[in-house]
Amino acid sequence: AQAPQPWRNSAGFDLADPQALAPLLQAVDSVRGQRFSAAPLVGGVACPGGPVHDVRNPANTAVVVGSVVEADAAAVENALARASTAQRGWDAGGVALRADCLERAADLLEARGNEFIALLAAEAGRTLDDGLAELREAVDFCRYYAAQGRAQWGVQELPGPTGESNQLSLHGRGVFLCISPWNFPLAIFLGQVAAALVAGNTVLAKPAEQTPLVAARACALLHEAGVPGDVLHLLPGDGPRIGAQVLADPRLSGVAFTGGLDTAAAINRQLAAREGAIVPLIAETGGLNAMLADATALPEQLVDDVINSAFRSAGQRCSALRVLYLQDDIADGVITMLGGAMRELRLGDPASLATDIGPVIDPAARDHLEAYCARMRDAATELAACTLDDSHQRGCFVPPRVFQVRSMAELPGEVFGPVLHLVRYRSDELPKVLEEINASGYGLTLGVHSRIDGFAREVFAATRVGNTYINRNMVGAVVGVNPFGGQGLSGTGPKAGGPHYLARFATEKTRTDNL
Ligand code: NAD
Ligand code: ALA
Repeated sequence: AQAPQPWRNSAGFDLADPQALAPLLQAVDSVRGQRFSAAPLVGGVACPGGPVHDVRNPANTAVVVGSVVEADAAAVENALARASTAQRGWDAGGVALRADCLERAADLLEARGNEFIALLAAEAGRTLDDGLAELREAVDFCRYYAAQGRAQWGVQELPGPTGESNQLSLHGRGVFLCISPWNFPLAIFLGQVAAALVAGNTVLAKPAEQTPLVAARACALLHEAGVPGDVLHLLPGDGPRIGAQVLADPRLSGVAFTGGLDTAAAINRQLAAREGAIVPLIAETGGLNAMLADATALPEQLVDDVINSAFRSAGQRCSALRVLYLQDDIADGVITMLGGAMRELRLGDPASLATDIGPVIDPAARDHLEAYCARMRDAATELAACTLDDSHQRGCFVPPRVFQVRSMAELPGEVFGPVLHLVRYRSDELPKVLEEINASGYGLTLGVHSRIDGFAREVFAATRVGNTYINRNMVGAVVGVNPFGGQGLSGTGPKAGGPHYLARFATEKTRTDNL
């Protein structure tokens, strides 16, 4: 192993700088005039085969952004066979070669960042701001895992009796299935794949049904960066169908999954029912994330952080704030300010700089959220709501809303959209509040707003949560800075963008030599 290499987070650019912005706006125009396509990429070659679907712009569902060919059973079988054959050579080729590929991919991503940001807006409804942050995260994953791979792989000499040499080395496990969600179609897709590749695995990448176009471009970019076609295969299409075929296959050696809890449980059951070797599952799932504000919280900062945490990305982040606990003494003032701030939010075209909040991912998500809000209106107090106008009718827009409830226990689970729940509490109820947060079983993110260090310390110590943010918003974990991932129902770990992530994609070998 080498000494850890210095690496830097991607600098991105300033959206307020007209010179930097001009090429991005050109890319937005150019993406509007194109139709993209995605198909299974097996052995580096696009295959025909399964059903073909249109991919529509969630901000205006009349607009077709492109089309996707699903991977059929033959494409999946071909990918498994090729990935299985190629794995030994890829692992034996050494970490330096693999890390070089990721570093080249990071450079290519930065060079083509504007096109990716524009396509993220068109396919996934990501605002330009969110798209830029996601691009930077994707670049960071490639560079960080390359640096971690170089530092952690290689042969470690261990002590032994005289005449004996002992060596420990890390290797890829085999063929990894990487399954990603639509809400970070570039960063999570690439993060999983980059980690699996640099560890010495070959990869079958299964993007979300809603976002195959960004994934197809990212996969092609990795091939261009030097990852051989037989080492990385793209399998767009129906999750349960492709999952059932790959999860049962004896050539599979590991699964990295990010998505909903129910899906993780279904995958876990399928892995448990397999015959033969036990296949490890890395599963990152959802959250029922709380923020606690005591009487010393600064109201302006609190409201700003609540807006960002609950409503940015239309609330479609696993890390997003779902339940705000407000101490009674400040609750009335904060609620009034929050209502005012929500009325200022601009919902609209994610590719416009004037937009704060874009659409949710598709009509099914919109209808599901609206049905939830209708039920909540009967059962809880609605505190503030933005309104929609005619321009929103063509897309999947859901206005941010706040509902006052008595306890987190009233929620059905994760509500994946711009819906915030608010609970008022008295200071003597803090132990009950902390118990309630733990009792949810989730443990992804937690926010604390307080000027009392002892309050933050108590909350941090008492809660079983992966990422706690004190006096700031609770979204946008930065690779290598805020290693990200949850506990309990929120995931198995290890934390993405942290130093322990790669090891879970590896197997270890010890060589004891007496020559
Ligand atoms: P989802 O679970 O519906 O789908 C995720 C992926 O799993 C998709 O690629 C889908 O095709 C695939 N899939 C579905 N059923 C499958 C099966 N039976 N076998 C194999 N694959 C299958 O999730 P989503 O709606 O795409 O994403 C939103 C969810 O992801 C939210 O719950 C969110 O909290 C979670 N998420 C978690 C993190 C994290 O880091 N913890 C990050 C982002 C999103
Ligand atoms: N890692 C993403 C965030 O922190 C999900 O918001």
